[in-house]
Amino acid sequence: MSAKTAAGDVLRVENLSVAVGDTPLVQQVDLRVPARSTVGLVGESGCGKSMTIMSISRLLPGTVRVDRASRILYDGVDLLGLSERQLEDIRGSQIGFVFQDPMTALNPVYRAESQIAQVLRRHEGMRSGPAKARARELLELVGIPEPGRTGKRFPHELSGGMRQRVVIAMAVAAGPRLLLADEPTTALDVTTQAQIIALLKSLQEQFGMAIVLVSHDLSLIAEASDTVSVMYAGRIVESGPADAVLSAPRHPYTAGLVRSMPTFATPRDRPMPEIPGRLPAPGDRPAGCLFRTRCEHEMPACATPPPVFQVGRQDVRCWLAEPAGAPDSGRHLIEEKA
Ligand SMILES: Nc1ncnc2c1ncn2[C@@H]1O[C@H](COP(=O)(O)OP(=O)(O)OP(=O)(O)O)[C@@H](O)[C@H]1O
Ligand SMILES: [Mg+2]
Repeated sequence: MSAKTAAGDVLRVENLSVAVGDTPLVQQVDLRVPARSTVGLVGESGCGKSMTIMSISRLLPGTVRVDRASRILYDGVDLLGLSERQLEDIRGSQIGFVFQDPMTALNPVYRAESQIAQVLRRHEGMRSGPAKARARELLELVGIPEPGRTGKRFPHELSGGMRQRVVIAMAVAAGPRLLLADEPTTALDVTTQAQIIALLKSLQEQFGMAIVLVSHDLSLIAEASDTVSVMYAGRIVESGPADAVLSAPRHPYTAGLVRSMPTFATPRDRPMPEIPGRLPAPGDRPAGCLFRTRCEHEMPACATPPPVFQVGRQDVRCWLAEPAGAPDSGRHLIEEKA
């Protein structure tokens, strides 16, 4: 059976919608995460990336509700149907987390190595001594110099990059099959960013993990991901293999993101082209296609919400991708959602 079949998916998010009161934040999101693969989720600030990740981990703020038609299948089991206790066992053991700010994951009053050891004791049933020893090994594995000495430090005594490495060590301590990384490098300088991404990729190999990597930075996503899902105003507007999405974006929003990516070819004295306009707030999204207020290709059809069409290797939520009528156009309507 190939990794492309449903059985090879560690995670499948189906029809995920989340809302605050009547205001939808995330609408009908689908994500497929094959075992050992990296899925990039990219989009502007406020488009709903963190809401999607927090739905998977069921760590949503109390006011935010997941629609009943949503399914979040981890290894075929719907996480939305589990008790808090069942979830606790999965979180931190089978699913690891790395967020933008390492301080949210670290307890300021415990030394680095104790925090890793706590994960091992909780999820692996290790006793104190072996857990400490293994914690030191993990610190070494995530590239912390002098793990014996550095492990004795408290979070505030470490640099941002070192803190994030400690969080990563905690996230992989129990050997999870899935790592959810929400903007794991956004708070770090560029050199450290590259090191952390390289570390995640190397740990992925060693542990055989799948990764969902969230970022607003398309170049970072492009580099690290096998497949990419592009999110705009709470919806996935385009998804497909990373190389296809990057080299031949089919949705005007993705095309705009690709154009605004820095390249070696971009002259330094010329400003980067940006997508004009602003992401509409959740309560202020237009009827029809959500991107039409900013789209240079807007046409009458856009007053109706576009379904998802398959174009080449991508799934695209845009009327421009509608089959032109030619039998060999290679475009197919694959899904119809209101
Ligand atoms: N607790 C909340 N109550 C109501 N709305 C919220 C809440 N938290 C976030 N939102 C709104 O939900 C939308 C999606 O937010 P989300 O945090 O998922 O965006 P994001 O894509 O992760 O952005 P960023 O790149 O800035 O992290 C935003 O418009 C945000 O203002
Ligand atoms: Mg976010």
